[in-house]
Amino acid sequence: MEKFSGLEEKVAAIRAKIEEAAAGMDSTKAVYEGMKRFMDPKKGVISEMMKEMRSIPAEQRAEYGKRVNALKAWAQERFDELGSQVKERELACRYEQEKVDITLPAERTHAGKLHPITQVREQLIDIFASMGFTIYEGSEIETDYYNFTALNTPQDHPARDMQDTFYLSPEFLLRTQTSSGQIHVMENDRPPIKILSPGKVFRSDDDATHSPMFTQMEGLVVDKHIALSDLQGMLDIFVQKIYGEGTRTRLRPSFFPFTEPSVEVDCSCFSCGGKGCRLCKGTGWIEILGAGIVNRKVLENCGIDPDEYSGLAFGIGIERTAMLKYGIGNIKLLFESDLEVLDQIDD
Ligand code: DAH
Repeated sequence: MEKFSGLEEKVAAIRAKIEEAAAGMDSTKAVYEGMKRFMDPKKGVISEMMKEMRSIPAEQRAEYGKRVNALKAWAQERFDELGSQVKERELACRYEQEKVDITLPAERTHAGKLHPITQVREQLIDIFASMGFTIYEGSEIETDYYNFTALNTPQDHPARDMQDTFYLSPEFLLRTQTSSGQIHVMENDRPPIKILSPGKVFRSDDDATHSPMFTQMEGLVVDKHIALSDLQGMLDIFVQKIYGEGTRTRLRPSFFPFTEPSVEVDCSCFSCGGKGCRLCKGTGWIEILGAGIVNRKVLENCGIDPDEYSGLAFGIGIERTAMLKYGIGNIKLLFESDLEVLDQIDD
């Protein structure tokens, strides 16, 4: 029985040692290491006690084993308990560290969007595409023939003065108008034709409302019996979609070498409804584009019989449309890429 009284003390000492070690276990890792020290199947303090069983007299072995097993069960339970306590503390600590202050004002993010010119260009394309127009994109470098001569504007024509041209050579130039696209399309396609030609154009012109590079959108319809009334019908739909339901159009006689008759198209002022204001300079009308019935000579230049077919054409300035739509006074604001400014321009 000597051994047994010694065992009691040993068990008590181990329990005390575990408790002592438990006080310093501040992480799951520490608990794991503590558990290994006492309970490792090979080298653990309690396992060592199990091994000693061999030296215990046979009649006492069962009792010895029972006590060491009880110690082992207690220790297991204690380490499990310590493990979950430490885990809980670690988790609470992590929650504290990763806490999100939902009362903090959010950081301002800058959402990108399309440039106003692109927005207007896409709107115009959508409107005319819904009327059956398809897109033809010509090239920015043109020959004198496509930009002028074929459009009934020969070398000595005074109308060339209206468009200060950047010549690259006597033959090549930066196109001054998307009207050049009309010729390419009519040379390659036979009527019925219904195309829209958007793109950059260039003129030596620079002030608050003009820029050396700007964007136009040409429209061309060629078929049998095309008349000015078809033009006005299309443009009515266009102005209502762009400037609002109640907007009307009016055609004024004008001159372009490639159309006969030629018209300047005005729309009723969408700012004052036609009463007269600063935007429409008191007239109630705003000039929005040039248009007309395709000149017979232009059809002939492209091999289309003007006795069989007629056409209508129009040319819209995209920057001008954007400036009117968004109330922008200076065209440069559209080209300076100042996000503070561009952000304010929207529907
Ligand atoms: N090309 C002309 C310009 O740039 C605009 C224009 C006027 C286009 C009448 C047309 C048209 O198609 O019929 O000033």
